[in-house]
Amino acid sequence: MREELLNESESESDLLSPSETETDTELLAEPGLRPRTLTEFVGQTELKSHLRVILGAASKRRDAVDHLLFAGPPGLGKTTLAHIIAAEMGSHLLVTSGPALERSGDLASILSKLEDGDVLFIDEIHRLPRPVEEVLYPAMEDFRIDIVLGKGPAARSIPLDLARFTLVGATTRTGLITGPLRDRFGLVARLDFYDVDDLQSIALRSAQIFGVDVTETGAWEIARRARGTPRIANRLLRQVRDYAEVERDGHIDAEVAADGLAFFGVDELGLDKASRAVLDAVCRRFGGGPVGLSTLAIAVSEPSETVEDVYEPYLIQQGLLMRTPRGRVATPAAFEHLQMTVEAVGPPTAPGLFDDPAPDAPKPD
Ligand SMILES: Nc1ncnc2c1ncn2[C@@H]1O[C@H](COP(=O)(O)OP(=O)(O)O)[C@@H](O)[C@H]1O
Ligand SMILES: [Mg+2]
Repeated sequence: MREELLNESESESDLLSPSETETDTELLAEPGLRPRTLTEFVGQTELKSHLRVILGAASKRRDAVDHLLFAGPPGLGKTTLAHIIAAEMGSHLLVTSGPALERSGDLASILSKLEDGDVLFIDEIHRLPRPVEEVLYPAMEDFRIDIVLGKGPAARSIPLDLARFTLVGATTRTGLITGPLRDRFGLVARLDFYDVDDLQSIALRSAQIFGVDVTETGAWEIARRARGTPRIANRLLRQVRDYAEVERDGHIDAEVAADGLAFFGVDELGLDKASRAVLDAVCRRFGGGPVGLSTLAIAVSEPSETVEDVYEPYLIQQGLLMRTPRGRVATPAAFEHLQMTVEAVGPPTAPGLFDDPAPDAPKPD
């Protein structure tokens, strides 16, 4: 399988916190960790059954697979699925991302090089600049683009036929995908957080690939705290492996896993320092909220997108945090988890340097 990584310097890492994105070294260090077939891909049963039918039908017709959009928080397997689709169809995969495609010419030149059946993967497709996105519409629908030559009144537009390719898009935000783009996908699939059983299977599979000695209950302890996310399960497994090798005899049972996770600051619910900081800011600093996203992001020194895409989905799923029209609100469960009582919080602390000033606050000169 030919695989090209276009615009290597541009990756999701400029948006998401380094802890949530896989690095090239991570992939190089553990080759084979990424499942290569739908059968190896754990969980997401319904989505897999849909994909089996879509891929089966396409190969029967000897046609390209319909365009597919995968949405969901980071680390749930969107990129992995794009690789699997190309591999299962025996096609070439080209990888790029929304922010890497700055001009419509960038996309046009990639599209014009595609061959029949090729899979083009656009990560973070919600970050495509609008003029570039507009090139995609006729490309997806009619396998055609219009190349504009020249400028002003003398400009001519030349239609160019494209090969029958498959676009696979990935996004952490379905809400930011425009209607016209979304309508051109044959399947829009949302990936959900994985249950603990699935994450346990993933941890056991990865342990086998790493050659790590872990018991079923050890893998369960890791899975339980992986925040529903395969990438986090793999990361916790690595941390526990390191802990077990240095502090114990290398064998991982439930107790060693629990000790290792506690050592690395992962709490009972699987919240690490950064996710706890978000919850802690809402509860302690803003008295449980409501607090606006941008204010919260500044309080934890992270970009708003990271707070919204990386940390919040799991806090919301766990019933610790709510998004309301007035801002983020912590639930009683959040206070309980942080071992705080609501009364103990008192009024929000005096505004800090970065807080939004009250409307009547004197302007600094
Ligand atoms: N269903 C799954 N089964 C096994 N491993 C998975 C699964 N989904 C994801 N992974 C692992 O988690 C890591 C992150 O997956 P990835 O596809 O990069 O997530 P995303 O693109 O959604 O951020 C991959 O390296 C892969 O090894
Ligand atoms: Mg990805």
